[in-house]
Amino acid sequence: MNIESLVRKNILNLKPYTSARGSHLSGILLDANENSFGSAIDDVKVKALNRYPDPFHNELREKLSEYLKVNKENICIGVGSDEIIDLLVRIFCEPKIDNAIIPEPTYGMYKVVCDINEINTLNVQLNSSFQPEAETILNKADENSKIIFLCSPNNPTGNLINPEIIYELAKKFKGIIIVDEAYIEFAESHSLIGSINEFPNIVVTRTFSKAWGLAGARCGYAVASKEIIDLLYKIKMPYNINKFTSEAILNALKNSGKKDKFVEEIKKEREYLTQTLSSNAKIKKVYPSESNYILFECEDPKNVYDKLIAKGIVIRDRSAQVKNCLRVSVGTHEENDRFIKELFGVL
Ligand SMILES: Cc1ncc(COP(=O)(O)O)c(C=O)c1O
Repeated sequence: MNIESLVRKNILNLKPYTSARGSHLSGILLDANENSFGSAIDDVKVKALNRYPDPFHNELREKLSEYLKVNKENICIGVGSDEIIDLLVRIFCEPKIDNAIIPEPTYGMYKVVCDINEINTLNVQLNSSFQPEAETILNKADENSKIIFLCSPNNPTGNLINPEIIYELAKKFKGIIIVDEAYIEFAESHSLIGSINEFPNIVVTRTFSKAWGLAGARCGYAVASKEIIDLLYKIKMPYNINKFTSEAILNALKNSGKKDKFVEEIKKEREYLTQTLSSNAKIKKVYPSESNYILFECEDPKNVYDKLIAKGIVIRDRSAQVKNCLRVSVGTHEENDRFIKELFGVL
């Protein structure tokens, strides 16, 4: 697979911005028009806020690399995995010419990012088990197809994508496969980050927003071949990750046991919610979940959704994507009980 041949010419020819902190992180720093006197802020633990952060996220990538057991050169940090997805689309897809294939129903941002960048999207449907059909996708692909988006576990359906299908696509598709593992920590399965050496066209995106409980810090990352990671670093905004976020993520990585406990607790609550929802005859179907949300089917979902909102319970109406379905995130035991009580009342 020749990755370079897939990259937009303007990106290949781009002379990247050389940022001050990309060259020097210490010394008498008079190169970036910062405020050498300090910061107009009190009582924060984060040091040297008057200085721009490291554009190459060296410390963060080192610690993440130790945690993931993946080389630092294979990791790029983004402002959420959403930023990584946007950068990948901009690296590989020529506006108004190239296209991306999005097996639906899935996470809505893939299409939005493509629409913003004027990239055509080819819609294919996941099958009745919410798995992609490799043959259908490959038949749909044309010479301008550059990216296939696969979300595993898939949002909003909650199931893992069969890795064998992903490998088949990676072998046969002459473009990039983005495997979005935002929810992989909740699944009884291994991540595909170990596959990037064998399949240089697979990019795995992951996030600290879900299992790690750091959605407010805005931090996600890509794991991919060094060639793709270098391209991401070439085009991203120089100082995308701020020092507060960096500090929060370094702290969390030292504390990964807490994330493991969250995952355990959430899986327990997921089981409780699944069982309880399944016990109500008005709920037609509860889809099995490998993530931290559950998709379920009922009659008149819009009405159920509105009535729950009126009671202060906010879930997600996904009936436009999966017929008659609502999606609920797994909450704390108390939140889940409130939700169940109000939902059963409404039904
Ligand atoms: C499948 C999927 N990917 C990515 C994201 C965005 O993650 P981040 O917060 O890292 O941008 C979400 C958020 O809900 C998601 O559901």
